[in-house]
Formats: sequence, structure tokens, C-alpha cells
Amino acid sequence: MSTLLKAAVEAAQAAGEIQRRFYGKTLKVEMKKDNNLNLVTQVDKACEKKIQSILYKRFPAFNFWGEESGQGAGDSEFTWLVDPLDGTTNFAHSYPFFCVSIALVKDRQPVLGVVYDAMNRECFTAEKGQGAHLNGRRIRVSSEPKLSKSLLATGFAYGVKETLYNFENFKNFVLNSQGVRRDGSAAMNLAYVAAGRFEGFWERGIQAWDMAAAVCLIREAGGKVTDISGKAFDLMAQNALASNGNIHQQMHKLLWAGPDEKKWVKRYLKKP
Ligand code: IPD
Ligand code: CA
Ligand code: CA
Repeated sequence: MSTLLKAAVEAAQAAGEIQRRFYGKTLKVEMKKDNNLNLVTQVDKACEKKIQSILYKRFPAFNFWGEESGQGAGDSEFTWLVDPLDGTTNFAHSYPFFCVSIALVKDRQPVLGVVYDAMNRECFTAEKGQGAHLNGRRIRVSSEPKLSKSLLATGFAYGVKETLYNFENFKNFVLNSQGVRRDGSAAMNLAYVAAGRFEGFWERGIQAWDMAAAVCLIREAGGKVTDISGKAFDLMAQNALASNGNIHQQMHKLLWAGPDEKKWVKRYLKKP
């Protein structure tokens, strides 16, 4: 394991320890300014501070971009991109499905990723060219070739009113797969694609810090990630289509060739 990955794992585990300590306790829950579905707790903030201080101590020259503190200044070619607690709504409701997500990004591509599930003590790690691992053991995406035999996951991001048409995609995938899970942590869902637990994932309205670490995991586990329209994955495009590779085309086809997306956007946007 490189020094970079060691530091990221140490930071993720330190944040995970904070999460275990506060889990199930009464929290100070605030709503973010722009959206009253988007919650933040003192744990999100404490985890981000902890991660930042550990990473800064080891790599003071690197830029840092965290969900809670924003994009820091700096001109390094490397940026730590961090979601200190992915699944805050779950955490606030004592639903044990959340994680820490830490990526190192260079040229808008994740070159290292750690997703840490503190409750189950599962640490998913990857470095470009080095494969993906779960608690040190190599992981690979599933080899399932058929969408009809796949288990999928998705999310409805906080801008749910602007993406109501996504319910149609949800319906289509439920009808054409073995099931679709929607359990509130995009980073963990994506890590599960890397580990072969899910065959595919899609979501609109997610942010760079939700995806970066797990995109590195999926690529290193042999999977495929594009944007939702099938174009090259873009960290800033706020959407992702991820799969084991085999069912990618089948998912893409259903996302677009089901009811025409533009038609759905138009129809739903007319409604309040
Ligand atoms: C959210 C979770 C959720 C996804 C949202 C994300 P947060 O992150 O990943 O599953 O649907 O798009 O914003 O706010 O819990 O860090
Ligand atoms: Ca998140
Ligand atoms: Ca978060």
C-alpha cells in the first residue's frame, strides 16, 4: 500500500471512529441553505476536520476539497476530494448505511479512492493500476451478463423535484432486473458495484465528492463508469452510470430508449 493510500485509510478510519461514537445519539441536525432535504450534522463537520488535519499533516502541499468546507485554495496538481459522511440522512435517522469517502484527484480523474463503512468495518480501497481491495482482499465486479438477473441501486438526489422523471427510470429498472435498491449512500452503492454486490448503479444530481473515490474502485475492479448519456465519465457532470461492464449497454439503452427522456423532463417540469 502506498504512503498516499495509507494516509487516506488512516483518515477514513479516524472519521469512521467519530461516526461510531455518535451513531444512535441525539444529533444537532441542520438543513443546508439551498435545500431542506439536505442535512448536515456536527458529525459531518467533525469528520471533515479530522480528515483534513490528518491529510494536511502528511501532504501539506496538496489541495483539499471537502463537501462541508468547500474547495480550498492551492495550486497542487493533486486534490483530496472528500465526503466526510455520505449518507447523512441515514446517519441522522440511525439507519446504519453510510460511509466516509476520500479520493485523490489529478487532471479531473480519481487516482486513489477509499470508501469506509464504519458500522461494518469494511474498508474499500483502490489505487490506479493497483486493483481494488476490500479489507486487503482483491475485489472484482460481478460477471453477470444479463440485466434481467442483475441487482441494481440508485438514488434520488436532493434536487428531487427537478429530476421527477427519474421515477420512470426507476420503474423501468424494477421491471427489467432482479431488483433496485435505494438506500441513501451513493458512495457505498458504487463501492458495492466494485465488490460485485450490485451489477449497476445510476443517479442524477450527485456531486463530485459522492462519486470520486468509488469511481476509482469500480475501474480498478474491472467495471465501467460513464455519464448517464453514455459519454465519458465527468467528475463535474453531476451524474453517473456505473456497472460491471457487461450490462452497461443494457442499462444505457433502458435509461434512454425507454420513454424518451426529453419527453419526461418536459412533462414533469410543467408540474409543480
Ligand atoms: C447523498 C447520498 C445519497 C444521494 C445524494 C447524496 P450526503 O450524500 O449519497 O444517497 O442520493 O445524491 O447527496 O448528503 O448524505 O453526503
Ligand atoms: Ca454525499
Ligand atoms: Ca456528505
